[in-house]
Amino acid sequence: MRILHTIADLRQALAGTTGTAFVPTMGNLHEGHLALIKLAKEHGGPVVASIFVNRLQFAPHEDFDTYPRTLGRDCELLRSVGCNMVFAPSENELYPQPQTCTVRPDPALADILEGRFRPGFFNGVCTVVLKLFNIVEPKVAVFGKKDYQQLMVIRHMVRELALPIEVVAGETARADDGLALSSRNGYLSEAERAEAVALAQELRAIGAALRAGRRDWAALEAEAVDRLVRRGWKPDYVAVRRRVDLLEPGADDRELVALAAARLGTTRLIDNLELSVPA
Ligand code: PAF
Repeated sequence: MRILHTIADLRQALAGTTGTAFVPTMGNLHEGHLALIKLAKEHGGPVVASIFVNRLQFAPHEDFDTYPRTLGRDCELLRSVGCNMVFAPSENELYPQPQTCTVRPDPALADILEGRFRPGFFNGVCTVVLKLFNIVEPKVAVFGKKDYQQLMVIRHMVRELALPIEVVAGETARADDGLALSSRNGYLSEAERAEAVALAQELRAIGAALRAGRRDWAALEAEAVDRLVRRGWKPDYVAVRRRVDLLEPGADDRELVALAAARLGTTRLIDNLELSVPA
């Protein structure tokens, strides 16, 4: 496995290859990322993972400075699952000057839910992802469903900008108790880690309510928020949305997703669950 730190070296390493599958990450890898690499490997071409903590997608009060940088361990994990190349640029390599040319994704998709609570987040994500796409020139790019809205925003960008890239979605990897794996789970204390599973449980409770015939989305959302608050969480949102565009469901919509973001102590967790309304 080759580890490249500059755009020129990565381009040289990839020269003459075709069919690259790309997995962008911010490092501090866990089993969920490794599952994405395994999915990327199924496409047959070389697999490139990037590790870059992207300042552009963090607000000033967020955890950019403290986000764990664990390159040595990450590379060992990537090697163990057969990743071929790691692109780990410095900030100066990717942003030698302040990045003034940025991507503004569709506000209808990017300014709701996460975008409402993290203004500018998807501008930062799309800007770095487009830049990485232009560097790696992959045939396939793999993103996790854990970041459901991110996956949709990227798919939309790829479609609208006619990028010749197939976006592949990987399922959310979960711990035995159901907590979605996330690099930020490492911030949780032991007690918080035990409590954290409640977020996934609330999404499953919404699924059970749908199966029992309830269609009063707003009440279901409010009840989940209320239960989380009573357990000590600070929820940003619990939302039942259409899978196709993340808008509020109408009476005929069957393919839904429940999404949630909430703070436990100082750690902000997100999760989602795809749901199908029984006919
Ligand atoms: O999902 C992530 O880890 C990041 O948002 C991404 C896609 C690597 C862009 O920095």
